[in-house]
Amino acid sequence: MMKIAVFASGSGSNFQAIVDSIKVGLLDAEVKLLVCDKPNAYAIERAKKEEIESFVFNPKDFQSKEDFERKIVSELQKREIQYLILAGYMRLIGPTILREFEKRIINIHPSLLPKFPGKDAIGQAIAAGVNTTGVTIHFVDEGMDTGPIIAQEELIIMEHDTAETLAVRIHEVEHRLYPKTLQTIFNNGGVRHHEKSAH
Ligand code: GAR
Repeated sequence: MMKIAVFASGSGSNFQAIVDSIKVGLLDAEVKLLVCDKPNAYAIERAKKEEIESFVFNPKDFQSKEDFERKIVSELQKREIQYLILAGYMRLIGPTILREFEKRIINIHPSLLPKFPGKDAIGQAIAAGVNTTGVTIHFVDEGMDTGPIIAQEELIIMEHDTAETLAVRIHEVEHRLYPKTLQTIFNNGGVRHHEKSAH
């Protein structure tokens, strides 16, 4: 069983979807830790209800990004975490974490990358007036929403869609696609499979 940590900054609905998938046997993993950089995030309440430990920090309490990332790495190592699952963690992963968990950090993003990276990808798609958008799951590198793509699912934008109505459908896709894709990665031995398929 894969030991994972989920990183979130907001509502944590993807965190919840992962936890629920584990409960019903769709995902063979154990969420050992929630890492959260926003002390008021609803994701923390969800972790409490699920009796999952959280490491909550305020970046302002640290002198540098390297400092708080070092602390995160030590919390992860203490629990022998194998994979880091970013689920709405709105912060770039720096070299301190990347070095320790190379090719074992996965992110979900609400667009068909490389289109609309960064914040408010759903609003960006609506503003651009495109007909389709979607969800991307990818390995994390030092860039913003870059790194090798693992899975994508397209979604049609309807004429009457607003950022709010589109977000509901995007989330439905995310909650289904993320646990399923994680299980595929874990089944295939994750890192090794990815390295193979990249050649
Ligand atoms: C999700 O839609 C996720 O794809 C997005 O944040 C949302 C978090 O929702 N992530 C990014 O935009 C990363 N650049 P949640 O807190 O309800 O899971």
